[in-house]
Amino acid sequence: MEFLCVEFLCVCAMSKYHTIYLWSGPRSLSTATMYSFGQRNDTQIHDEPLYAHWLNENESIYRPYREKLIESSDCDSVSVIRKLNSLHTNEKPIVFAKHIAKQYTNFNSTKSVLFETKNENVKIHHVFLIRNPFDMIKSWDDRLEIHKEKCTLDSMSLALLVQMYSYIRETTNKTPLVIDSSLLKTHPREVLSMLCYELGIPFQEEQLSWAKGPKSFDGLWAEHWYHSVHNSSGFNAETAAKESFVTFNQEQLSVYREALPFYELLLRSAIGVNMLCPNSSKIELYNPLMPKYGEFFDPKNADIMIWVGDKLYPREYAKVSVFDSAVQGGDAVWEGIRIYKNKIFKLQEHVNRLFDSAKALDFQNIPDKEFVFSAIFKTLAANGMRDGAHVRLTLTRGCKITSSMNPKFNVFGCNLLVVPEWKNVQNPTTYDNDKGISLITATTRRQGPATLDSKIHHCNLINNILAKIQANNSDAHDALMLDCEGFVAETNATNIFMVKDSIVHTPTADYCLPGVTRKTVIELLKQNGVPIVERKISLSEFHCADEIFTTGTMGELTPVISVDGRRISNEKGPITSSLQKWYKELTLTMGVEIP
Ligand SMILES: Cc1ncc(COP(=O)(O)O)c(C=O)c1O
Repeated sequence: MEFLCVEFLCVCAMSKYHTIYLWSGPRSLSTATMYSFGQRNDTQIHDEPLYAHWLNENESIYRPYREKLIESSDCDSVSVIRKLNSLHTNEKPIVFAKHIAKQYTNFNSTKSVLFETKNENVKIHHVFLIRNPFDMIKSWDDRLEIHKEKCTLDSMSLALLVQMYSYIRETTNKTPLVIDSSLLKTHPREVLSMLCYELGIPFQEEQLSWAKGPKSFDGLWAEHWYHSVHNSSGFNAETAAKESFVTFNQEQLSVYREALPFYELLLRSAIGVNMLCPNSSKIELYNPLMPKYGEFFDPKNADIMIWVGDKLYPREYAKVSVFDSAVQGGDAVWEGIRIYKNKIFKLQEHVNRLFDSAKALDFQNIPDKEFVFSAIFKTLAANGMRDGAHVRLTLTRGCKITSSMNPKFNVFGCNLLVVPEWKNVQNPTTYDNDKGISLITATTRRQGPATLDSKIHHCNLINNILAKIQANNSDAHDALMLDCEGFVAETNATNIFMVKDSIVHTPTADYCLPGVTRKTVIELLKQNGVPIVERKISLSEFHCADEIFTTGTMGELTPVISVDGRRISNEKGPITSSLQKWYKELTLTMGVEIP
């Protein structure tokens, strides 16, 4: 993690002293994290300094060390926090305090003290340590003889952590720091390096391991609670042996159901969690100096709002059920639609084709067209999209009551998805319409009426994806697909045209999608007096064409410069150029106005 070093020096220079509060629920690896910071040569550790306050406020709570702790500690939360904010020394300029959030019983009435310091050299940080409530619930019972409390939403502190998170966010105007214990366990070096970077302190290699046994800064309850952490010497070692299988009872399941949304809310900000795909098990190691998510990602699309079913969700919340027909069998239909200068191009045509495809597949309980139009308009409005955008419109057969391919189990009606993205022809995910693209012929054949009618614009795209894989593996831009007789059908993603001796030819729409752009191009050719023939065309005719171009809503008109290694032309042909011009004019003048 060398890239961190330069950065933290700049941040470090700004603050001489730090107070780091670690807020967590119980059983979340907080003691191990405290031990990790205890390894630093510049840090003083305070183990649950609000514990005595909590016990003092709650007389009914039994702990074997209750009296002793209360007698020997400051029980006033405000005075405890004020002290933590001012205990820095030049030898130990970092104060680290581990807190179980629920111990801060009067958070709401005293929270302003959390950032209170008279010393401008002190930087106060609040870090949240979270743990999947599934694992928390699972590990709860083995200490029941001490705490005798049920595992509830409240005892897990998750709702309070969310409340604190919201306060810290408001006060600092920044997303608070969150670490997830499972990532900390599997990737301690990465998570701690990134945490230290965010705190503006240098990461120390010593933080990754510690000696077994009690520590001088352990709270006096350690002998009751810290058995397993005392046996550990690092994050992995502490829990690696603990993999077990559990069956929840009804009560545990209810608690898990209630707790999960709170955990997931916090998880979205956790260091190393891929915000755009929170279920991914892959840790996102970020380099703050590099763009996130690679060359195909437009950062503007991180914050889009997506329509699912009957409402809008931020991108990372936009999900369908695992019982949705699209997941169960690719049983869905779709359209790609473009937005140009306040207008939606060919909206009616796309929605008509969506409904025809749904009818052909015998979808039931389809929302009416007005609902679909309104969902599209609301989605565009929510994203402020009036130009340079693309909408992926999908209608699934809906959620099934049990996993199956049988549409009889679709008892909930169709599910509408409106996925809008900022995308235009400059986007690296689309084609270069000036330089053109190369094609190879795929061995996978395009289906026709005898198998799966290509007139249905369905989401069962594996056939096309296989062809695309062949193109990718051959370093071609796309794949040409043949019909079952060996005539050219279309590409894996677009319709195709060729020009020979100033006459334009395109395959009949028997083995290809009857594309909206294909139809528009045929109309443009006719309007401009260019002869156009729809017929069966063989591959060798394409190899010998004067010009070839593909058509599709997203890519518009794209020149093809080579097919199977045969050079078609060195530059965009005259008919392709004219058509591109006519098509552009149309996109800027025609379309349904966005309200
Ligand atoms: C296989 C295939 N062919 C052609 C097209 C182009 O159709 P359109 O012009 O309606 O966008 C698409 C677009 O979805 C497609 O998936």
